[in-house]
Amino acid sequence: MSSYKVGVIGGDGIGPEVVAEALKVVAATGVSLTTTDYDLGADRYVRTGEVLPDSVLAELRGQDAILLGAVGPPVGSNAVPSGALERGLLLRLRFELDLYVNMRPFSGVPGALSPECDFVVIRENTEGTYAGEGGFLRKGTPFEVATQGSVNTRHGVERCARFAFTLAAERPRHHLTLVHKTNVLTFAGDLWQRTVDEVATEYPGVTRDYSHVDATCIYLVENSARYDVIVTDNLFGDIITDLAGAIAGGIGYAASANLNPDRIGPSLFEPVHGAAHDIVGTGKANPAAAIRSAALMLDHLGETSAAEKVTQALADFIASGPNPTLSTAAIGDAIAERL
Ligand code: NAD
Ligand code: IPM
Ligand code: MN
Repeated sequence: MSSYKVGVIGGDGIGPEVVAEALKVVAATGVSLTTTDYDLGADRYVRTGEVLPDSVLAELRGQDAILLGAVGPPVGSNAVPSGALERGLLLRLRFELDLYVNMRPFSGVPGALSPECDFVVIRENTEGTYAGEGGFLRKGTPFEVATQGSVNTRHGVERCARFAFTLAAERPRHHLTLVHKTNVLTFAGDLWQRTVDEVATEYPGVTRDYSHVDATCIYLVENSARYDVIVTDNLFGDIITDLAGAIAGGIGYAASANLNPDRIGPSLFEPVHGAAHDIVGTGKANPAAAIRSAALMLDHLGETSAAEKVTQALADFIASGPNPTLSTAAIGDAIAERL
């Protein structure tokens, strides 16, 4: 049996805790991984000043997949310059590896605000306000100017939209919603709307809808059943997926796959949540998001049966009812035991 090379970036805060449980569950499937741990994140930065050395990036390119916990210092800490890790490590990986789709599936858990919800957000992952366009003029003066532009290319939007339509065509409801703010962002929104309209002609079986991003925040809370596949830009996708996590049962369940669908290199799998320094070391971190992210990784590697087993074991565990006394490791054990 083949063994997959997986680069593991535990990262900061609860990152290493939840990644350990994800690897425990993958091991229980019998799929063989050859893992390489990469010491990256705030601790490494504070120790060495390094964020993502080029040599490490080159090694990561040679992996079959990357599994990441979370990176980032405690919010408000000044041990690391703002964004140094988020931009210098996570976004750099997304951009350099051209991981242009950020796929974030949500399914409600018992007791959630939306226990029945079942939808996937396809977040464009390489453009928008995240691209880094902008800068300062007259910094530090009373006449300072800061701009942060949104980069939207026809190529970037089209490939993301095509992925979303293909996914919608495969799902039972065949429904796709563009989420944007076309009523105000009339340049970017226009490009997105026209591109989605054109790609739609290739998918006559997929029904279509549109919601403005602000109204989407209402609908996610009040009527998330209207969504099947959402396609949206980078920043809107970031924001609505934290909300989606919260309505589906908690951010600790929200998984993501940063994909290069063309498979030019490894894709990256990580929970939607961050380093959660407020609960590090307490055993309160929910490893479900990391475990589901590992299932997405197995699926991407072609281990579809193992991926389905992990997803099912996780679903069965969740259906067995909430047990707030279970620690991070005990949850990992309970899911691994079901395999
Ligand atoms: P966060 O997601 O780390 O935490 C927000 C809240 O959710 C906290 O109350 C936290 O305790 C809770 N939470 C998060 N994950 C949980 C889990 N698995 N189980 C239970 N509760 C969980 O967001 P933040 O506080 O804004 O960010 C903390 C740091 O992480 C920042 O440096 C930020 O930049 C970084 N961050 C990294 C990633 C990433 O690496 N992918 C994602 C988001 C934030
Ligand atoms: C996420 C995170 C990242 C993002 C940060 C840490 C760069 O919030 O994956 O949702 O904004 O994309
Ligand atoms: Mn986020």
